[in-house]
Amino acid sequence: MAGVGSALPERVVTNDDLARMVDTSDEWIVSRTGIKERRLAADGEYTSDLAERAARAALASAGYSPDDIDLIVLATATPDNTFPSTAVAVQHRLGITRGAAFDVAAVCSGFVYAMTTADALIAQGLAKRALVIGAETFSRILDWEDRTTCVLFGDGAGAVVLEASDGSGGENARGVIAACLRSDGSHKEKLFVDGGPSTTQTVGHLRMRGQEVFRFAVSATVDVVEDVFAKADVTAEEIDWFVPHQANKRIIDSSARKLGIAPEKVILTVQHHGNTSAASIPLALAEAAADGRIKRGDLVLLEAMGGGFTWGAVLVRW
Ligand code: ACO
Repeated sequence: MAGVGSALPERVVTNDDLARMVDTSDEWIVSRTGIKERRLAADGEYTSDLAERAARAALASAGYSPDDIDLIVLATATPDNTFPSTAVAVQHRLGITRGAAFDVAAVCSGFVYAMTTADALIAQGLAKRALVIGAETFSRILDWEDRTTCVLFGDGAGAVVLEASDGSGGENARGVIAACLRSDGSHKEKLFVDGGPSTTQTVGHLRMRGQEVFRFAVSATVDVVEDVFAKADVTAEEIDWFVPHQANKRIIDSSARKLGIAPEKVILTVQHHGNTSAASIPLALAEAAADGRIKRGDLVLLEAMGGGFTWGAVLVRW
């Protein structure tokens, strides 16, 4: 784990702002989700713009230049274009012409999938130093007349630099210690976008059966985290920080309680970011690293669940 960075659009949209657009209230949104405000991308501000800014911030924090990177794995469900991938757009903007760049589509679990993928490629000797990015502009796929979904999401991006080590760190080596990825497409109608290039030739809008997603999210979280704890032979008490996907404060509180993770170890950003899908975990990591909570050597547990359903967890030594 060599560096972390993030990028947010400038425009802040509060719950009261949304209450002027749809029949909702600050009280309803805060009590059901914990969200108070979110950032929304400006006209002409794309996923690749946020991703590039987050990538540059992560490189700066690591003390590396784009020349040092030979892999970009970018998680997004809101790419700039159907193809080429947003990862190659970012690669080009950074002036990188070597190595590989590609997108990962696992919706809100995207960052956990991307971290695991980049770590595996590095471990196989296929890359030395990777940018792992989560970047989204969910505002572009929301139905702004559907109060049950449009109040939940926001835009943003975060990135980390992951690099090969010589393995000399032993138990205290920094980076990915254990991971677990899962998916089950039998749930695909519970959270999906009703459009796409092959079906409607439109982008479509996000549709969700909220209560069913909620119920699944908590059990899925516990399932993958317990798997990762068993693989790494660690307990909830040994974790320094829990950085879950930021969808809903109630899901996060309930998952942490069931896992036996103390509330003071939970990093929460959903109140000011909303649900930024694949960007939520690296945005939270960047915030907690910048304010000094997450420190070198800390044991940090990442976890997410999203459309598909997909879910997964990664344990890292910071
Ligand atoms: N403002 C005011 N009222 C609303 C709003 C709103 N924005 N949205 C829905 N309501 C109303 C409903 O119409 C319903 O009214 P009714 O009783 O008259 O029919 C009432 O509020 C209750 O609706 P529910 O859907 O039962 O509300 P619930 O308590 O389940 O909360 C929520 C909804 C917040 C979506 C919840 O189900 C949830 O958080 N689900 C998880 C979904 C999620 O986080 N998805 C993110 C993507 S997946 C991921 O990232 C993990």
